[in-house]
Amino acid sequence: MKVAVFGASGMLGFAVCESVIRRGFTLCAYSNKSTVSISSNLKSKSLPFSNDDQITRDLFDQWPDAVINCAAISSPDEVNKSPTVAQDINVEGAYRLASIAAHIGARFIHVSTDMVFDGSKSPYRSTDMPNPLSVYGVQKLDAEKKVLSVTDENLVVLRVTLLNGNSPMGKRSPHEKILQSLAIGSKLTLFDDEIRQPCSVENLSDVIVELLERPNLNGLFHWAGSEEISRFDLGLRILKRFGINSDQIIQGKVKDEQLNLGHRPSHLSFVLEPLVSKVRTQPLSIDEQLQELRVPNELYSWYREFADDPSCYVPRF
Ligand SMILES: NC(=O)c1ccc[n+]([C@@H]2O[C@H](COP(=O)([O-])OP(=O)(O)OC[C@H]3O[C@@H](n4cnc5c(N)ncnc54)[C@H](OP(=O)(O)O)[C@@H]3O)[C@@H](O)[C@H]2O)c1
Repeated sequence: MKVAVFGASGMLGFAVCESVIRRGFTLCAYSNKSTVSISSNLKSKSLPFSNDDQITRDLFDQWPDAVINCAAISSPDEVNKSPTVAQDINVEGAYRLASIAAHIGARFIHVSTDMVFDGSKSPYRSTDMPNPLSVYGVQKLDAEKKVLSVTDENLVVLRVTLLNGNSPMGKRSPHEKILQSLAIGSKLTLFDDEIRQPCSVENLSDVIVELLERPNLNGLFHWAGSEEISRFDLGLRILKRFGINSDQIIQGKVKDEQLNLGHRPSHLSFVLEPLVSKVRTQPLSIDEQLQELRVPNELYSWYREFADDPSCYVPRF
């Protein structure tokens, strides 16, 4: 199988590329402005969504069997800063890729988010009514609708939750943000009334690659880890995993900060049926997810000095 992955330089896209290679498929990896080395002899190709014609030309030249869209402006704050730019990527770019994939008969997998819900009625099924609170959530919901309107066959929209894991730049995931901020001497505030059901990016990538070979599974599905946790408790578990004292993060409450934070859903979790009974890959517990986490390479010397008990963490270089 030949698989085109968009967003290959991002946290999820990079892990999906690794999973595609592990499965033995041929990979065409696309990123925005930056290129990233996926393996010793494969780099992503820079191909911004604004370059419509080139995307069409490339996909017609490559004629992949599957297209996976992990590209997005994935930070709600970034979307708020430039909503029109984000709309072009999160909605129009996704729709364009789905249309080209349908035209060339390629299976299409599009990644969406739990932020399409308002957080008042967790756990959510994929049949529950969305009600996004942020511009990011509105755009991701719009993208789902447009992508799903392209075809009923050969297409999956997969909503996923907060992602744990290792990103190519070492700055994207919850543990990387905590370590990066400690390394510059500041402490993060994390909220104990913001409940999430985090998901391992490697585990999610395995599900996505498994879905490539399951043409009978089409439509809208949910994926996450197996446990709920508050962002603050996740922070504490991350510190413990790396042998750092628990007073290094600040406990806060979203409800005390609403004016500064805009509208953040308080409780987002998913019912994983029907997908979870249909795939071999199974959701991971928080402990299993924590075991996969690495200290970003450039922080390793700082970490050895800073950690209270660095022996908790055995590096994998
Ligand atoms: N991270 C989470 O916790 C989370 C939670 C739920 C859902 N999701 C969803 O999961 C998907 C992947 O998220 P992520 O966290 O992996 O995102 P990410 O790390 O921010 O990566 C985004 C990717 O999109 C690419 N991109 C940005 N602008 C582009 C453009 N104009 N043209 C082409 N590519 C562009 C980026 O390329 P450059 O690096 O080259 O700019 C990067 O490869 C997204 O759909 C997101 O909404 C993420």
